[in-house]
Amino acid sequence: MAILVCGGAGYIGSHAVRALLEGGEEVVIVDNLLTGFAEAVPPGAEFYAVDVRDSEKLGAIFQKHDIGEVMHFAASSQVGESVVKPLFYFNNNVYGMQSLLETMVRHGVGSIVFSSSAAVYGEPLVTPIDEKAPIAPKSPYGESKAIMEKMMRWVGAAHKIRFASLRYFNVAGAIEGGAIGEAHAPETHLIPIVLQVPLGQRRNVTVFGDDYDTPDGTCVRDYIHVCDLVDAHLLALDYLRRGGESDRFNLGSEKGFSVMEIIRAAESVVGRIIPFSIGPRRAGDPDKLVASSEKAKKILGWTPRLTAAEEIIQSAWKWHSARPLGYKHNDQNKLKDQNRNEH
Ligand code: UFG
Repeated sequence: MAILVCGGAGYIGSHAVRALLEGGEEVVIVDNLLTGFAEAVPPGAEFYAVDVRDSEKLGAIFQKHDIGEVMHFAASSQVGESVVKPLFYFNNNVYGMQSLLETMVRHGVGSIVFSSSAAVYGEPLVTPIDEKAPIAPKSPYGESKAIMEKMMRWVGAAHKIRFASLRYFNVAGAIEGGAIGEAHAPETHLIPIVLQVPLGQRRNVTVFGDDYDTPDGTCVRDYIHVCDLVDAHLLALDYLRRGGESDRFNLGSEKGFSVMEIIRAAESVVGRIIPFSIGPRRAGDPDKLVASSEKAKKILGWTPRLTAAEEIIQSAWKWHSARPLGYKHNDQNKLKDQNRNEH
């Protein structure tokens, strides 16, 4: 039996693929390479450059391989972009889920581990955020993930599909050794942006607002190392294999770091001053987002290990300093152009 990893050439998916292969699993990857990189796919996995929305091609892959389970990472994931292009997000994410679930039903595949997001909670009133917090997304991206969760619930009930929906907080870092890592074009995430300064790709960092209701006035987020996140996926797979009921789990380190704390930690990792300026608030940023991951700890037996800001940034730095322009093929030019346009 093989595990189908949708989005296995992306940042988190490619880390999960490696962990699955190390665990002796047979892995089949489907990725349309819109934001993923063929170079991130390791030998040992069967790779198809196919879009999950292409149900004919997806069906042929289910036909060819004995797919027993699915891990679904394939989605567009930029909050700001989703506000400008909501229909694209609903098409790629929601319709992608529709096509995947239809194919799973047709082929009798009954379990799925799904990449959800803390974005489903919007701006929660209570911190830390547990799974009982209201679902109130503030962006088409968050809405698409909330809808995808609901689709799994309804389709799962009708067709005996069980799911583990993993609601990620701020994912960062890279695999030990720095062979793969985060590469987005455009890059919007704080840690890679901060590290662009010591890489010589950016003169300074703009801190989006310093008048939030936090100790130093800058936004607080819960940064979770990608390898800890992947551990939770393996545990969720195991949970479903043991007959676990469909459920949702928050995945964060339960620690909050402010934007300024991340800049300071990055300075200590790279041994250089990272100049910054204070800019206006970014629309839609809540003051503080910190997870309660008690449920994942209790039910899945998960323990995040790399929770210090310096540890997370150190592993990201290893990847970015080894591969300043990310992956090799033509997406490299996309990244170059993006970096150029931003200064
Ligand atoms: N920030 C800056 N300057 C920058 C970039 C970011 O100050 O140049 C700040 C942001 O305003 C925010 C913090 O750094 O306060 C973290 O921002 P990111 O863009 O790295 O991450 P977000 O918290 O906005 O988003 C993350 C995930 C999303 C997910 C969301 C859930 O990346 O996919 O959490 O709330 F939807």
